[in-house]
Amino acid sequence: MAVSRDLKVAKHSKDFRSRTVIKEALMENDFLKNLSQSQVREMVDAMHEKIIPKGVYVIREGELGSHLYVAGEGEYEVIKDGKVLGRLGVGKAFGELAILYNCKRTASIKAVADGKLWTIERTVFQQIMQSTGMK
Ligand code: CMP
Repeated sequence: MAVSRDLKVAKHSKDFRSRTVIKEALMENDFLKNLSQSQVREMVDAMHEKIIPKGVYVIREGELGSHLYVAGEGEYEVIKDGKVLGRLGVGKAFGELAILYNCKRTASIKAVADGKLWTIERTVFQQIMQSTGMK
C-alpha cells in the first residue's frame, strides 16, 4: 500500500546553477550524503537566500542551532576556541552537526567577505528527513 505523504514545505524558486550548487553541497557532505534523491530535491526547493555582509558571525560556537547552510557566494572562516581551523567556500554545506545531532554548535562560522548563503530551518529539515526516512 502506498504511504501517503503530507509534506507542506514552502518552496523558494532559484536558478539552475544555484540548484546545482546546493545539491552538490548536500551530496558531498559526510553527514548528509545518505539523503535520498527526493529528500535532496525537497531540501533544494526549500532553501532560501540570505545575504551575509563581511565580518558577520553566521554561527556562534556553543549556541543552539536553528539552521543548516550552504555557501552560495563568499568565504567563511571556521573558528573553534578562538582558533581559525579553516575556510569554507562556495558549494560547502555547514551547520549540519547541531541540526542532525541536537548538540550545541561545535564551532563558529564568520564571513570573511560579503556573501550569500542558502539556508533551511531545522524544523523544515526534520520534516523532510521524516517524510521519506533516512537510511
Ligand atoms: P555545527 O556544529 O552545527 O555548527 C558549526 C559548523 O562548523 C559545524 O556544524 C560544521 O558544519 C562546521 N565545522 C565544525 N568543525 C569543523 C572543522 N574542523 N572543519 C570544517 N568545518 C567544521
